[in-house]
Amino acid sequence: MIHQNRRKELLSKLDNNAVVIVSTNSEQKRNSDVNYPFRPDSSFWYLTGFIEPDAIAVFSKNDYSIFLNPKDKTKEIWNGKRLGVELAPKALLANQAYDIDTFLDEIESLVDKDSSVHFDAPTTGGWKDISSTNILNESISSIFKNKIRPLNPYLSEMRLIKDPSEIKNMQAAANLASKAHIKAMLKTKPGLYEHHISAEFDSEFRNGNSEHSYPPIVASGENACILHYTENNKILNDGDLLLVDAGCEILGYASDITRTFPINGRFSEPQKQIYEIVLNAQKSAIACIMPGEKVSTPHEVACDIITNGLIELGIMDTSSDLSEFYMHKTGHWLGLDVHDVGTQVIDDEYRIFEAGMVTTVEPGIYIRKSDKIESKYWNIGIRIEDDVLVTNDGNHILSEAAIKDLKDIEHLMSNQ
Ligand code: GLY
Ligand code: MN
Ligand code: MN
Repeated sequence: MIHQNRRKELLSKLDNNAVVIVSTNSEQKRNSDVNYPFRPDSSFWYLTGFIEPDAIAVFSKNDYSIFLNPKDKTKEIWNGKRLGVELAPKALLANQAYDIDTFLDEIESLVDKDSSVHFDAPTTGGWKDISSTNILNESISSIFKNKIRPLNPYLSEMRLIKDPSEIKNMQAAANLASKAHIKAMLKTKPGLYEHHISAEFDSEFRNGNSEHSYPPIVASGENACILHYTENNKILNDGDLLLVDAGCEILGYASDITRTFPINGRFSEPQKQIYEIVLNAQKSAIACIMPGEKVSTPHEVACDIITNGLIELGIMDTSSDLSEFYMHKTGHWLGLDVHDVGTQVIDDEYRIFEAGMVTTVEPGIYIRKSDKIESKYWNIGIRIEDDVLVTNDGNHILSEAAIKDLKDIEHLMSNQ
């Protein structure tokens, strides 16, 4: 029912005779005859609730057709059960279902002469796409030509505001990942390897019937200054910090959490100084998240605090460029995608926060080796990232169970 309501709401924003075409992903090859684990397209999942590969939904005010893989005894023995054409209408509340391979034969008859067709080329392939040319995109473009209108701007606005069922899944994803971060802190000690800590997340997520929502970053020492470090295979050295950016997915909804902590359980003085700047920037950025506030404010607040903090410590002078130490934004939308859909800007102006939006807040400081900086600060890389829901009267930190105060981390790690 929830998916039917979403289709209805989407159509209410379009012309009366609009038709929407939305497709899901195909399996993607990893090597030889081995595929990557399948993940449905987020928008298709949001509108249909259907999680098999190779399907296309076509719907308008009066009609909903679903194209999907037909039942196939041999393929189901090898690769798993399929819903099939016969059961699909009842299970998915569609008017009719078709074999996906008949899509090109049927599609024209499902669109009235004067209808517009809302469709965007899939970005991750789909419908058994194995080449750089997407069959679906090519055929829809050539059949409907100037009747084609964009879909994503309307759909992204809907996905940006999370309903209670979505928030429930996001809270569950944040809870599970927070628990894994605490376990990682408890396990960490000098002499182990980054992959041992990474394994803690694999175990916690799989035990919670969940998956990573992105490849985890488990970066010790200087590796923390590589923003997308995913090798996760170096030894954990006494005296270094460990930055862990890891989150999971519950029914498609992501968490995205970063914690940074000392490998031996005690922050050194220089590490403390940098940590407190990032933590202050992060808490202050979160404090200004509320309905009516501009979405650009958290980043501005974080940048001010980091700039002043680094100048005070003599790491930066007034003429330096902050991007040498802080080169990414303070947050992004979070939902079915880790970097979720939704614009930051409307009509050249930053939009304002509204209840139901979920954003990350993730300032950081990354100090690489440089003759211009005292060596005690070299290779300190710190990011602190939480998932924050905008509520009617402010915000709620979904990932609040993952401790982040310096004293709390040292206390927890002293109990190993
Ligand atoms: N883990 C990806 C990010 O923080 O944006
Ligand atoms: Mn993030
Ligand atoms: Mn992250």
